[in-house]
Amino acid sequence: MAEQRTGRITGTGSCVPDLCITNERLSEVVDTSDAWIYSRTGIHRRRIAADETVADLAAEAAKSAMEKAKILPEEIDLLLVATCSGEMLFPGTACQVQARIGAVRAAAFDMNAACSGFLFALGTAWAYLKSGLYEKILVIGAEKLSRLLDWGDRSTCVLFGDGAGAVVLEADGKGIMGMVQHADGNKGQVLTCPEGHETAGSSNPFLRKTERIPNISSLEMEGQEVFKFAVKQVPRCIEEVLAQTGTAKEEIRYYILHQANSRILSGAAKRLQEPEGKFPMNMEEYGNTSAASIPLLLDELNREGKLQRGDKLVLSGFGAGLTWGALLLEW
Ligand code: ACO
Repeated sequence: MAEQRTGRITGTGSCVPDLCITNERLSEVVDTSDAWIYSRTGIHRRRIAADETVADLAAEAAKSAMEKAKILPEEIDLLLVATCSGEMLFPGTACQVQARIGAVRAAAFDMNAACSGFLFALGTAWAYLKSGLYEKILVIGAEKLSRLLDWGDRSTCVLFGDGAGAVVLEADGKGIMGMVQHADGNKGQVLTCPEGHETAGSSNPFLRKTERIPNISSLEMEGQEVFKFAVKQVPRCIEEVLAQTGTAKEEIRYYILHQANSRILSGAAKRLQEPEGKFPMNMEEYGNTSAASIPLLLDELNREGKLQRGDKLVLSGFGAGLTWGALLLEW
């Protein structure tokens, strides 16, 4: 019987901004401490894009991924960028990246599912490959959440960082084995960020004053609600994708989860009754980089030689929307 067509990751790459801000440095900006931040989140420092744009970070990550996959930009059929923090509403970040890297044949568009963005974009790419429409797809998660934060709000500004990660996904007989995706818009208010374009909005003579869009867009979060949501839904959707693919937990080499918070990952490990060692973490270095966190970690593991052909990995993302999901693949 012919092998079913799926998608295999053939290259990974990542890029983080140069500026590193430690918890100590942050405590000069807001009333906080390394002890408070680290004990609650597992974060010691993060990178902040002072000069780089989301597209700059994404393009660098993409170039490394293509180099590892040994493919040329003009071979790319589709370029997806998962982001919720691009500087431009249009042209989208994906089109900016396409121009920077010279992926002249590629269709390109952005996807926004907040911190689940990369996982959902990877799932979309997989569906395109399975359908036979495309052969080589570049999937990028890139964020500059520092531009959406209220730097006077210590309960949120300490959590996030900027960065990008990318993978090349190619049509193959092995690779992605299954996926589950979920959303619950009724609980969307626990993690929000309005878009602010007052200059354009306020020139609209048909808007009532009260309807005008605020100038300041900053992220707001009910931290404990997000915590409870993640600890409950992440293990559930992982169990779901394991059942969907007939895979036992013992077969999984690593669970590569969105790097929101070390306590969420520990909670998920506990509920799944799996050792924490199977849940690699790098939020200590980079903070929560939203849609970039999964490909950033994947690239780190790949560069360190920790991923071997045939390893089974579960990727799981969760975030605003609310959105969450899991994907199982063979490396
Ligand atoms: N430094 C010092 N004190 C702080 C800080 C800070 N950075 N932030 C808040 N506090 C204070 C609060 O003011 C409060 O003080 P009070 O008791 O005097 O009023 C106290 O700490 C407790 O505040 P809580 O908001 O209850 O803090 P909590 O223990 O819930 O921790 C945290 C907050 C870390 C955000 C936690 O809720 C959490 O882990 N949530 C998970 C959500 C998450 O990780 N989100 C990431 C983004 S979303 C995503 O990626 C899916």
